[in-house]
Amino acid sequence: MTAKTNSAKKLFVKTYGCQMNVYDSERMIATLENSGYQNTQHPADADMILLNTCHIREKAAEKIYSELGRLKKLKAEKPGLKFGVTGCVAQAEGAEIMQRQPMVDIVVGPQAYHRLPKMAERAMSGEKVLDTEFPEEDKFDHLPQSPKMRRAPCAFLTVQEGCDKFCAFCVVPYTRGAEVSRSPARIIDEARDLVDRGVREITLLGQNVNAYHGQGATGTVSLAGLIAELAQIDRLARIRFTTSHPNDMTDDLIAALGHCDKLMPYLHLPVQSGSDSILKDMNRKHTAASYQLIVERIRAASPDLLLSGDFIVGFPGETEADFQDTLNLVEQVGFGQAYSFKYSPRPGTPAADKKAVPEAVKNDRLARLQTLLSKQQSAAQESMVGRVVHVLFEKPGKQPGQLIGKSEHLHAVHAVCDATSIGEIVPVRITKSMTNSLTGTVI
Ligand code: SAH
Ligand code: SF4
Ligand code: F3S
Repeated sequence: MTAKTNSAKKLFVKTYGCQMNVYDSERMIATLENSGYQNTQHPADADMILLNTCHIREKAAEKIYSELGRLKKLKAEKPGLKFGVTGCVAQAEGAEIMQRQPMVDIVVGPQAYHRLPKMAERAMSGEKVLDTEFPEEDKFDHLPQSPKMRRAPCAFLTVQEGCDKFCAFCVVPYTRGAEVSRSPARIIDEARDLVDRGVREITLLGQNVNAYHGQGATGTVSLAGLIAELAQIDRLARIRFTTSHPNDMTDDLIAALGHCDKLMPYLHLPVQSGSDSILKDMNRKHTAASYQLIVERIRAASPDLLLSGDFIVGFPGETEADFQDTLNLVEQVGFGQAYSFKYSPRPGTPAADKKAVPEAVKNDRLARLQTLLSKQQSAAQESMVGRVVHVLFEKPGKQPGQLIGKSEHLHAVHAVCDATSIGEIVPVRITKSMTNSLTGTVI
């Protein structure tokens, strides 16, 4: 590690995109703290600003350039200020970023974060640094935990990274690389460490988390096997995992949703479309019917499970009839939670050059789909009124005396409760459903 000569340098990190970026940002901060940087919440105080970026849709990527534009004035005030772009835009666009915004000093992709301290040192001495390789060594072996970090009751833990599925619309296989699973022993060590620092709930992360296949001492460990091992950690109360691909919902994982008490009854299982011809063009490798069958099996194992999904409208070639198939699938399956997006062509992906659905049609379909999904989400929330749920309180709420936390079904729940209950799981009777949260009374 490099010297403490950097000791006064301040670091500001802004995170975009998915939960894996949240996890990665923590690791980047930890690794730079070990090299003498101090984390700050204020960009104006910083000597180095890192934007940890997302490339999933055009809007997400463009945000970075507008943010850099806004941050330019800080550079004028403090010429020594260094800028880094990390994450999926860095991986996808590489040196182009520096051409478009010459103020940027470092461009580093998700697989090279362990090299950040060296890169920061070079940037500080005036070099431009680019690293978007997929190195041989495992970055996780080199990235530290942050012992200084005060822990919230909930934490993310990356167990698998990358994707080999190559859905025709998606940049992730290019930005995160091939599917790699971390070793179960490492994951369990990290989970124990989190729990020692007060974490009660861990969400296991992977782009295809249920394709997890770690090499254990006695052979390959599946996600269900890993969850069974994690469930033995005493003070760890809750386990979740995201995101899953329908085709990797194996029998053992479905069974675990039924019998593992610590595994919460919530599953994010994107389907993207209800039309078989669109699913085929998307290269999803499942049909609407095979998705429904998987959901039936999951619900048979875990009847109270809340299902969440992702949808794309206006994929190239999507007709009104295809879109109707999506609405029908939503009606038939029923989603307690969902995320829906207009298709955004991404450079380098197979679907990018196909004839686009007109923007107005996309807007109309998105609005219709979201109306239906919101109705289902509200119904799922309403069905909780009168029920007792168990809330892991995370922090004070907006109203005085109130705390906010998550139920088993990942609903945000507000209730009046003593602040000493932060980090505890408390029974709450739900009294009211609001737009995106529930209110209740501690019993
Ligand atoms: N690995 C996860 C998540 C991928 S990204 C999975 O397999 O589901 C999260 C969501 O963004 C996707 O599920 C998809 O609905 C959406 N998405 C991905 N690429 C997109 C694109 N080009 N345009 C619009 N939405 C997209
Ligand atoms: Fe993207 Fe498909 Fe892989 Fe998910 S499964 S990350 S949508 S390519
Ligand atoms: Fe975005 Fe990369 Fe996550 S593209 S959604 S930050 S894996």
